[in-house]
Amino acid sequence: MQRILVTGALGQIGSELVPSLRARYGADGVVASDVRVPAGPVEDEGPFVYADCLHIRQIDDAVRRFDVGTIYHLAALLSAVAEERPRAAWDLNMGGLYRVLEVAREHGCAVFLPSSIGAFGPGTPRIATPQDTIQRPSTMYGITKVSSELLCDYYHRRFALDTRGLRLPGLISHVALPGGGTTDYAVQIFHDAIRFGRHICYLREDTKLDMMYMADALRAIEELMEADPSRLRHRNAFNVTSMAVTPAELAAEIQRHRPGFTLDCEPDPVRQAIADSWPQSIDDSAAREEWGWAPRYDLAATTREMLAQLETRLAAEASSGPAPRAGRDAG
Ligand code: SER
Repeated sequence: MQRILVTGALGQIGSELVPSLRARYGADGVVASDVRVPAGPVEDEGPFVYADCLHIRQIDDAVRRFDVGTIYHLAALLSAVAEERPRAAWDLNMGGLYRVLEVAREHGCAVFLPSSIGAFGPGTPRIATPQDTIQRPSTMYGITKVSSELLCDYYHRRFALDTRGLRLPGLISHVALPGGGTTDYAVQIFHDAIRFGRHICYLREDTKLDMMYMADALRAIEELMEADPSRLRHRNAFNVTSMAVTPAELAAEIQRHRPGFTLDCEPDPVRQAIADSWPQSIDDSAAREEWGWAPRYDLAATTREMLAQLETRLAAEASSGPAPRAGRDAG
């Protein structure tokens, strides 16, 4: 069987997608790659290769060397970092994808690409945002995500490449920290709840955004990539969501487990403006119809899992290991 290559494997998604894919397809069947050197279990459990997506030769070498049939291309800059460094975001998010698609075309690889709720903009209907609607984002991140969706669809139509993608919401996870997104507070709030009993949020307390627990995101990615292609009317990219929540609602749910927890909001103008340009809730009925998507973790289940998992992880790290890695990938 041909192998899987995951770029950006040390980021928030990759840190959990790689082990999940290895559990499904075998440790040797999944090659992790990144521009950083792994410190954790990634390199112990299967092949790791240094590959910079800005260098087509490095991707091509990895694909040839490991006989890769599918690329999960996660390497990207997230929304807040992309606003700080728009040129770097364009170079990596578009240049990296273009090179990955070219290598995929050469070798006939399937490609998964995470798009985002950031692919929508201020002109998009903000409530129950449809699958097919206006996409005129006002952020560099969003511009690269819409362009990526179009490019992936183009490679499918023009070169018959099996490209598939998801418009992921903010991802809530406990293994690796997200690296510079607008939805990052929804992870940090759990760390702060456990460590300090208080979180200062950079968004207004009523800022509603779609979110998803990582276990649901991994299942969505894997189910989409295994879906019967004849059922897919859309490809790049499907709306998916598990819940639409505000910082106030998330804090209230945490308070059910930790009554003393407090939330304060000191909105950061850049991230607040990004969040205000995104949907408050997206409609994922196309994913449900075309490949059977259904979330399993609502706000209550996510909060329960996050607190339990993170308490164990932080306690273990306090007694021995390092803090969780900050990631550089989409989600
Ligand atoms: N989580 C991402 C971000 O906030 C959105 O896809 O940038």
